[in-house]
Amino acid sequence: MSILYWVNNMNNNLSKPTILFHWLTGGAFIFVFCLGLYRDMLPESMNIMNNHKSLGVIVFVIAVLRLLWRFKEGAITSITKLSKVQSVAAKVVHYLLLLATIVMPLSGILMSIGGGRAISVFGLELIASGEKIEWLGSIAHSSHIASVDFIIVILFLHVAGALKHQLIDKDGTLSRMLGR
Ligand code: HEM
Ligand code: HEM
Repeated sequence: MSILYWVNNMNNNLSKPTILFHWLTGGAFIFVFCLGLYRDMLPESMNIMNNHKSLGVIVFVIAVLRLLWRFKEGAITSITKLSKVQSVAAKVVHYLLLLATIVMPLSGILMSIGGGRAISVFGLELIASGEKIEWLGSIAHSSHIASVDFIIVILFLHVAGALKHQLIDKDGTLSRMLGR
């Protein structure tokens, strides 16, 4: 057993793909989320909705890869011993966030397909436009919009929890996710 292996396990470090996937998906998710939320306030010349949709499809691909990685590696363990309630809360929030990174882009994609529109990523057509499927468009639209407030609350809890652990409990939770 190498020294590096021993030190890594002693520090309960996160793997490089876990850290990379977290910031890549998390950062892109927040960006696409804000584009959607503030679409009416941003200048038309920024082509907001096309960028929102294209980036959203990219988030979907990365989020699926991340989920596969999560299945392979298993859930991350907490850096310190948490109470039962804290540990369940952290797990639930993590699972809901993983779910959000899949459900939001997927409902967006299904909304477009339901509306008979093509799915493209920055001009590259992935799915051609077709017949409208009213029921699909309507269910997908409702879930895309209805999830928004819920995701804001979950994200707030997640970031507040991470900051509390780092700054008040000083247990290095955020440093670990930053690979330090
Ligand atoms: C500024 C924003 C963010 C900060 C500061 C942050 C911080 C963290 C930290 C410190 C952890 C490790 C928790 C632990 O050790 O128990 C973590 C895990 C996690 N975060 Fe975030 N996060 C942010 C944004 C996001 C976003 C936008 C998402 C998804 C939409 C997300 C999804 C997750 C998930 C699913 C985990 C569990 C680990 C995994 O499955 O890879 N985070 N986050
Ligand atoms: C990470 C992925 C995504 C996130 C986080 C996201 C988030 C959002 C948010 C926050 C809104 C504003 C909702 C509101 O006004 O209350 C929105 C609107 C919208 N999104 Fe997404 N979205 C994503 C992906 C997609 C994709 C892939 C598509 C289509 C291919 C899409 C199509 C739309 C459309 C058409 C609207 C406007 C709906 C309306 O005006 O009623 N989104 N999205």
